[in-house]
Amino acid sequence: MADIFDKKPIAAFGEMAETGARPYYRTAAPDAIMAGCNDYLGLATDPRVVEAAAAALARHGTSCSGSRILNGTLPLHEELEAALADFLGCEAALVTTTGFQANLAVGALLGPGDASFSDMANHASLVDGVLLGQGSRHRYRHGDLDHLERLLAAADPDAGKLVITDGLFSMEGDLCPLPGLRELADRYGARLVVDGAHDIGLLGACGRGVAEHFGAMDAVDLFTGTFSKCFGSLGGLLAGPAGIVEYLRYTARPVLFSAAMSPASAAAALASLEIIRTEPARRERVFDHAERLHNGLRALGFSTGPSVTPVVPVHVGHAVPCLRMWQALHDAGVYTNAVVAPAVPRGRALIRVTPQATHTEEQITRILDAFAACGRRLGLVPERAEHDWTPVALARPKLTP
Ligand SMILES: Cc1ncc(COP(=O)(O)O)c(C=O)c1O
Repeated sequence: MADIFDKKPIAAFGEMAETGARPYYRTAAPDAIMAGCNDYLGLATDPRVVEAAAAALARHGTSCSGSRILNGTLPLHEELEAALADFLGCEAALVTTTGFQANLAVGALLGPGDASFSDMANHASLVDGVLLGQGSRHRYRHGDLDHLERLLAAADPDAGKLVITDGLFSMEGDLCPLPGLRELADRYGARLVVDGAHDIGLLGACGRGVAEHFGAMDAVDLFTGTFSKCFGSLGGLLAGPAGIVEYLRYTARPVLFSAAMSPASAAAALASLEIIRTEPARRERVFDHAERLHNGLRALGFSTGPSVTPVVPVHVGHAVPCLRMWQALHDAGVYTNAVVAPAVPRGRALIRVTPQATHTEEQITRILDAFAACGRRLGLVPERAEHDWTPVALARPKLTP
């Protein structure tokens, strides 16, 4: 009889054993430069955010000890929801305990006769959200509008249709083709869900994300997002028409049956939202650092692929050299993220680097120096780079002077 605990070893373990690299579940050394964190704006340690969280902790305690629907709703949650709806130009918002849960909640929209259309590179939480829903499931090639159109055209014309995409793809750093997605959604009577986990707070003049970047706030029918990145906190969000947000409040099981976002997290997110609204220079600074990183890495001979954002992926290809590079960078005092299958397709392993507004110029220089030294030593880039390279054209927030 099979023992359910008798599992095959995780694929990456072989590669980790071969290289001696241990990139996962690691604490960063205190003196390492953290270049692999999603706190793009550096708000997790901002004194105003920390103080807001501490005040909420003192006032409300450590936990809501229950779900929003029963005993877990605080005025802080309601205030945060109203502020988010206003910020994103939506009728209503709902905050959840994590961004993962916000995306799982999307599944509640998908009934038996419905059809979902997901970008193949969507985040795991959106993939699982679709699996929690019902109806037919379709996946279009990453960013491929022609493929999406063929799938939409072939679907039952009477089915309720939902197109689902990340706004900013978290591993490759590219953006969804939002205007084209909206056009197709209109042509085929579909609704469009955009996960703004990495772009809300970072893109657009006011930090409202990918939709603002494209000048198309109305293009999105339902936003999802997280407070664990630009907001320096923990929690998730859904924002859209009042009717559908209300529907999700009462039907989305990941919302109904999980304890509410903690008071400290809600207060931190509220304080961060105010900073996101009022301090656009933070976004500029992240993009300045990102530009230096992209161009510095390209000049050395690395590829940062189609990324147009502060998600700076250094494409290595195979997992073994990727893990070796991660370990070498780690030993040089630079903490990055080694991304191998299944997080990216096999053979597309990368080192993910993310600057923060709080990094100094000197730290960015040290990150680039470490890439140069380690990359040359491991033979990933030539000793002397004499190739042509193209400077990156980033999706910078267009700030009014
Ligand atoms: C694109 C994307 N969506 C959703 C999530 C989930 O967010 P959270 O960390 O709040 O669960 C993440 C974080 O890993 C993400 O990268």
